[in-house]
Amino acid sequence: MLIKAAVAASNPTTLYIGLISGTSVDGVDCVLVDFSENTPKLVSTHFQPSPEDLRNEVLEVCAGAPLSLEQLGTLDIKIGHFFAAAVNELLAVSKTLPRDIAAIGSHGQTVWHKPNGAHPFSMQLGDANSIAYLTKIKTVADFRRMDVAAGGQGAPLAPLLHQDIFYCATTDRAVVNIGGISNITCLPASGNNLAFDTGPGNVLMDYWIGKHKHQRYDENGDWAMTGRTVPALLDRFLAEPYLKLPHPKSTGRELFNGDWLEKQLSDFSEIAPNDVQATLLEFTATTVACDIGLLMQPSALYVCGGGAHNAALMVSLARKLTNCKVDSTAALGIHPDWVEAVAFAWLARERMLGREIDTAAFTGAVRPVALGGVYSA
Ligand SMILES: Nc1ncnc2c1ncn2[C@@H]1O[C@H](COP(=O)(O)OP(=O)(O)O)[C@@H](O)[C@H]1O
Ligand SMILES: [Mg+2]
Repeated sequence: MLIKAAVAASNPTTLYIGLISGTSVDGVDCVLVDFSENTPKLVSTHFQPSPEDLRNEVLEVCAGAPLSLEQLGTLDIKIGHFFAAAVNELLAVSKTLPRDIAAIGSHGQTVWHKPNGAHPFSMQLGDANSIAYLTKIKTVADFRRMDVAAGGQGAPLAPLLHQDIFYCATTDRAVVNIGGISNITCLPASGNNLAFDTGPGNVLMDYWIGKHKHQRYDENGDWAMTGRTVPALLDRFLAEPYLKLPHPKSTGRELFNGDWLEKQLSDFSEIAPNDVQATLLEFTATTVACDIGLLMQPSALYVCGGGAHNAALMVSLARKLTNCKVDSTAALGIHPDWVEAVAFAWLARERMLGREIDTAAFTGAVRPVALGGVYSA
């Protein structure tokens, strides 16, 4: 009996759950990950689409709608409950018990990201107390704010996982996560790794197709493919000052949103909507490819995030990066839909193991810090 207990104590569970709802606000990605081997193994996944009313509320807040403290508190709880229900669904589909899970890593829903200025902050909602209580699982959350406190941008954090599992000592690799916003991770064989947000991923394309065709996104990039890039408009997009800022840098819906796009379009009212969509797709591909090209000549680019499903975007990226194979992260063993959620399971594990994380090359934090707070009911 005594021996059994000692084994259990020295062999804690290696299962973690990762949760992320990104800038697209499409829903919450939930993953169950086993860290018993060198590379994290995806055991089970679940995607819970955001209910329409909750999504609209979040989008309004992200667009700067005034919010009372009561509304803020309520939204925090609503999102926390939404995330907890998604975890409980993941447990049900994977037939896993709460006690089998070491911890949940919950990113939360970003509602405002302001990493620069006199009082920088990054705000995520989704009450971690509720998640821990409703799932009966220890929850690690609030990953970004310690990084900001340490002088970092608080973002991007997924590159920490990219570095850990996708780095290869013999090939020059790059990774791009194309969610609402895009972030690149340069992983040259030399080990001089770097990461930052390049700018828009899907957020502007989603806005534009939503406005003109009432669709959440441009499936496959099909609508964009019916149009053609308008060079003068692309140049206007590329004149955005954020793109010229040195890294480390990060951005979000606060900058790249419908208002931003409408402002750029004010001198281009005669352009057909599908040509605007084609130009937006080209904008995303150009910023990603140029930023990578300025830093390294990768022999392979691995794409994750919803943008990996946009065939037109993948083709455009491949065209811009010569002598570089463009593939999704599935080629490295993790399906592109789940990489970011795995990153938050990984971050939860780092936190539970008490490790400080060096984010200097990615977010610019001045020294390694432990990311995330631990909540247990
Ligand atoms: N089949 C598809 N074709 C084209 N774009 C897609 C497809 N599936 C997802 N996307 C894009 O990916 C986005 C979601 O990507 P995701 O990685 O979840 O972003 P975020 O992290 O911002 O939530 C969608 O809003 C959409 O623009
Ligand atoms: Mg998403």
